Amino acid sequence: MSNGTSEGRGRLAVVTGGASGIGAATCEVLRVRGWEVVIADIDTAAAQRAAAQYSGHCVTMDVADQASIARAAAEIEARHGAVYGLVNCAALFAPQTPPEHLDIESWDRITGTNLRGTYICNVEFGKRMAGRGQGAIVNMSSIGGHRPNHGHAYTTSKAAIITLTQGMAGEWGRSGVRVNSITPGFVGVPRVLAAIELGKRYPVPPGSLSALGRLVEPAEVAESIAFLLSDRASGITGTDLAVDAGVLATSGWVVHGGVPGARAPAADA
Ligand SMILES: NC(=O)c1ccc[n+]([C@@H]2O[C@H](COP(=O)([O-])OP(=O)(O)OC[C@H]3O[C@@H](n4cnc5c(N)ncnc54)[C@H](O)[C@@H]3O)[C@@H](O)[C@H]2O)c1
Repeated sequence: MSNGTSEGRGRLAVVTGGASGIGAATCEVLRVRGWEVVIADIDTAAAQRAAAQYSGHCVTMDVADQASIARAAAEIEARHGAVYGLVNCAALFAPQTPPEHLDIESWDRITGTNLRGTYICNVEFGKRMAGRGQGAIVNMSSIGGHRPNHGHAYTTSKAAIITLTQGMAGEWGRSGVRVNSITPGFVGVPRVLAAIELGKRYPVPPGSLSALGRLVEPAEVAESIAFLLSDRASGITGTDLAVDAGVLATSGWVVHGGVPGARAPAADA
């Protein structure tokens, strides 16, 4: 078992969507823990900035395009060597269209990036890991994948990622590849903080819905991702780990005014 800076042992991890938010925080944590990191993102300029900040490398990759993923996987291995870890953070977020106003193009765009893209990345990188007999993959689900909201394409794709993760874990477990997913809650990435500031998307402050009464920090999600990639999680595969400050655990309290501390004391208390 290893920990701290020796945990990664110089092994190579690819982080899709690593140019911002949780992906960028993951690159930072992985570097600190001794991994080599390649950011694979559609936003080349942001990926270059993040790679410079976290002393990593980057490639331009569009997870909605199978050929782009295949090209990037081959290019990364040719330039940097065998990929041991894969973190699939790249995602699009949902415009919340009422289903009566069927917007099938945005359904295809969101599921094509979030679900199909995650599947193809699993296959392109996972098959190489399985061929070598070692590797670990972390896919990103969401609390929306457990408790749906009106972002139907997004939440459906995030629910399916949990099933996909179990399927890939079954496929490659005997080949030395572990596959797990993470369910983040409301995470304080710039995109979410800006939406809270604008006040439109979240009529209720999202942190107030959690057991801990706050948002999750990007670094807290990144630490759990690093754990699942590492040898410390050697017995864990096919699991979904919630890093949600307890939102899933406490969602049933909403009709009772929220968890203690979030509501006025009941009259009969
Ligand atoms: N932030 C949250 O509160 C939250 C909550 C639940 C789940 N998640 C999940 O965590 C992951 C990261 O979320 P985030 O909030 O850090 O997002 P973010 O918007 O900060 O980052 C997403 C990254 O994905 C990249 N990307 C988008 N489309 C791409 C494509 N086609 N190919 C390659 N890269 C692409 C973007 O350029 C960006 O760098 C996502 O999978 C998201 O669903 C986030």
